[in-house]
Amino acid sequence: MTRLKHPLPLIDKLGRPLRDLRISVTDRCNFRCTYCMPREMFGAEYAFLPHKEILSFEEITLIAKSFVDCGVQKIRLTGGEPLLRRDIDRLVSQLAEIPHIDLSLTTNGSLLGKRARALKDAGLQRITVSLDALDAPTFKRMNDADYPVSRVLEGIEAADTVGLGPIKVNAVIQQGVNEHAILELAQHFRGTPHIVRFIEYMDVGSTNGWNLDQVVPSKKIIDRISAQFPLESLQPLYQGEVAQRWRYLDGQGEVGVISSVTQAFCSACSRLRLSTDGHLFTCLFAQKGHDMRTLLRGTPSISEGDLRAWIEKKWGARDDRYSEIRTTETAKQQKIEMSYIGG
Ligand code: GTP
Ligand code: 5AD
Ligand code: SF4
Ligand code: SF4
Repeated sequence: MTRLKHPLPLIDKLGRPLRDLRISVTDRCNFRCTYCMPREMFGAEYAFLPHKEILSFEEITLIAKSFVDCGVQKIRLTGGEPLLRRDIDRLVSQLAEIPHIDLSLTTNGSLLGKRARALKDAGLQRITVSLDALDAPTFKRMNDADYPVSRVLEGIEAADTVGLGPIKVNAVIQQGVNEHAILELAQHFRGTPHIVRFIEYMDVGSTNGWNLDQVVPSKKIIDRISAQFPLESLQPLYQGEVAQRWRYLDGQGEVGVISSVTQAFCSACSRLRLSTDGHLFTCLFAQKGHDMRTLLRGTPSISEGDLRAWIEKKWGARDDRYSEIRTTETAKQQKIEMSYIGG
C-alpha cells in the first residue's frame, strides 16, 4: 500500500484530531513511586501480566503502522518502566522503520546510562526522564526504591552524549513532599539545553489516595521560580502541546508546567494509549479499554483495512474530557492504573 506522508487525521466527536499514540510496553517497574505504584498495592503479591497476555513486538508494530495510516505522527513508548522490557531496542528499531514519525520514550532513568547508546542506534529520536527530586531522602520518599539519584543524572548525561537530547525532565510535585525540589531542579538544569517540566499531581488510577490538597498549582510553581530567576511565557510549539513553556529572561534556558488539574487541556487532546496487553484507551482516566489483542489474535486475523476501520470507529465515538469535568466525586471512581496504560 502507498502511504501518504501525513494522512488526514481522524476527528473525534469533539472535533479533535488523532495525532499521538502512547504504547505501554510493560506494566512492571523497578520504582514504586507513591503517586503511581504505591508499594502497599504493588507488593510482592501483585499479579503483573503474564507473558502470553503481553503484546509481542510484531503485534505492537502492526498496530502502530495502522495508527500511522490513520494520521498518528508521534509514538511514545512508556510503561511501567519501558527499559525493563527485554530487547526493547529491537522494538525501537522496528518502529523506527515507520516513515515520518516522531519516536520517543519515557523512562525513570535508572537503567538509562547503560542503554542510551543502544536506544539511539536503534533509531530512538527523543527521551523524557522522570525525576522528582535531587536530594537522596526526597528522591527515595517519592519512588520508594533503592537507587542513587546520581544514576538518573548519569542516565541523562549518557542520553545527551549519544544525541538523544535536549532531554525533557518530568517532575511530579506533591504539596508538602517535594515542593523544595522545584527550585533545586530549576537551578540544576538552568543553563543546560534540558527542560524540566513540573507536573501537577493527578488522580490517575485508584491506588494513590489522591487529594486536591496535595496538588501544587502550576501558577504557584512559576511564581516561585520566577521570584528567583525571572521568567516569561512562550507560545506553544504546536496545537495541543501539553506543557506550557517559559523561558528564563537571562537566556539560561526553559522550563515547563503541565497543569492537568488547574488548567485542563482536554480541548486539544489528540492522544490514544495502548496498554501492555493490547487494550486501547481513549483517555488517561478511562475506566475501560477496547480489546485490540483479540482482534489481532483471532483466526483469521483481522485485515489491515478492517483494523483501520475499527480504529476510525473508536476515535469517531470519542468524547472523553475527564480533566475538564473532574470533581472530588470523579476522583474516587475506579480508574485504570497509569503503570498499565502508560503516562
Ligand atoms: P512531547 O511533546 O512528545 O515531547 O511530550 P509531552 O510534552 O506531551 O509530554 P509527555 O508525553 O512526556 O507527558 C508528560 C506528562 O504529562 C505525562 O507524564 C502525564 O503526567 C501528563 N500527560 C501527558 N498526556 C496527558 C493527557 O493526555 N492527559 C493528562 N491529563 N495528562 C497527560
Ligand atoms: N500525577 C502526575 N503525573 C504522574 N505520573 C505518574 N503518575 C502520575 C500522577 N499521579 C508521571 C510521572 C512520569 C510519567 C510516566 O507519568 O512523572 O513522568
Ligand atoms: Fe515507575 Fe514511572 Fe510509575 Fe514511578 S511513575 S512507579 S517510575 S512507572
Ligand atoms: Fe486527554 Fe483524557 Fe487527559 Fe483530557 S484527561 S487531556 S481527554 S487523556
